[in-house]
Amino acid sequence: MAAGTPGRVRVYEVGPRDGLQNEPAFVPTEDKVALIDALATAGLPAIEATSFVNPRWIPPLADAENLCAALRDRPGLPRITALVPNEKGLERALAHGLREVAVFMSASESHNKRNINKTRAEALAAFAPVFERCRAEGVAVRAYVSVVWGCPYEGPVSPAAVLETTERLLDLGAYEVSLGDTIGVGHPRQTRELLEALLATVPADRLAMHMHDTRGTALANCLVGLEMGIRTFDSSVGGLGGCPYAPGASGNLATEDLVYMLHGMGFETGVDLDRLVAAGMLAEALLGRPLPGRALKALAATCTTGPAPSSQPVSASDR
Ligand code: HMG
Ligand code: MG
Repeated sequence: MAAGTPGRVRVYEVGPRDGLQNEPAFVPTEDKVALIDALATAGLPAIEATSFVNPRWIPPLADAENLCAALRDRPGLPRITALVPNEKGLERALAHGLREVAVFMSASESHNKRNINKTRAEALAAFAPVFERCRAEGVAVRAYVSVVWGCPYEGPVSPAAVLETTERLLDLGAYEVSLGDTIGVGHPRQTRELLEALLATVPADRLAMHMHDTRGTALANCLVGLEMGIRTFDSSVGGLGGCPYAPGASGNLATEDLVYMLHGMGFETGVDLDRLVAAGMLAEALLGRPLPGRALKALAATCTTGPAPSSQPVSASDR
């Protein structure tokens, strides 16, 4: 990384989707809209809003249609994206005007089967018509590879499995593959090893990193990614996400932590950190509990934007 010219980083916000999909209580659609508005006001360039999956599998996102209807044509929003697991999901997303969708599969067979009820080969076969239709409609497709370092059912995952999956998804037509440390087990040496394996054949601008901070290594992994040329990072407002049944365990990398580090290092993101903290405070108010993001905790006291007026801020002692 040349000193003095860090450049621009794209921060891809996944809180409304990856964060809220884990919430035990259903978050009302209007609260989701308010949160997405606040994230848009903070200047995030892309927001993954929901999932067009089977609502029986993911009840917290069962309002995907209503949410996208409420967001459609709303002024001031950046690119709104959603997960789609198959043609049916794509049909639903297209009916609500989405211009970008994300497919997802796992680097391990067992996680793939548990998550989308298909083998990896079946998943790739099911994605082919999704990519074809998106190409015909001019809709961008992002792709996730989950459990890149560790699978909750199989244990360690090899870089070769991640490389093979990444290449298949790029060949199908993904503009970018996001590498997901779904259970937050990766550390910087593994990040370097994985990226060395991938970057031998895949350009850095076709890769993104989606780190979970379950064991506190997410930012360190992103730093290795930055040094190796990765310029898109996924994160979740306040660190929303993770397992609601594992008290104290933090989930996705918090967007405030990522943006704080990037700005400190001189990277441009287009994000207003003060407004981002206000969005994090709004998320805490809507959920009625403090979120794990550390920069959010540190900066909330001096936030000049404040949470949206209709919300009840979480008190400093709760935080
Ligand atoms: P299935 O049960 O195998 O589906 O589920 P099926 O094709 O056999 O159909 C069964 C029923 O599902 C039918 O309805 C279909 O119409 C319906 P019925 O006739 O029984 O009434 N169905 C759908 N309904 C709505 N939308 C759809 C859809 N597709 C089928 N798109 C399926 C297969 C993939 C749908 C299911 O397994 C599913 O929804 N899985 C989603 C699980 C999920 O969202 N997991 C969390 C994603 S996060 C992640 O993976 C990691 C990531 O964040 C990265 C990281 O963190 O590292 C991306
Ligand atoms: Mg995730």
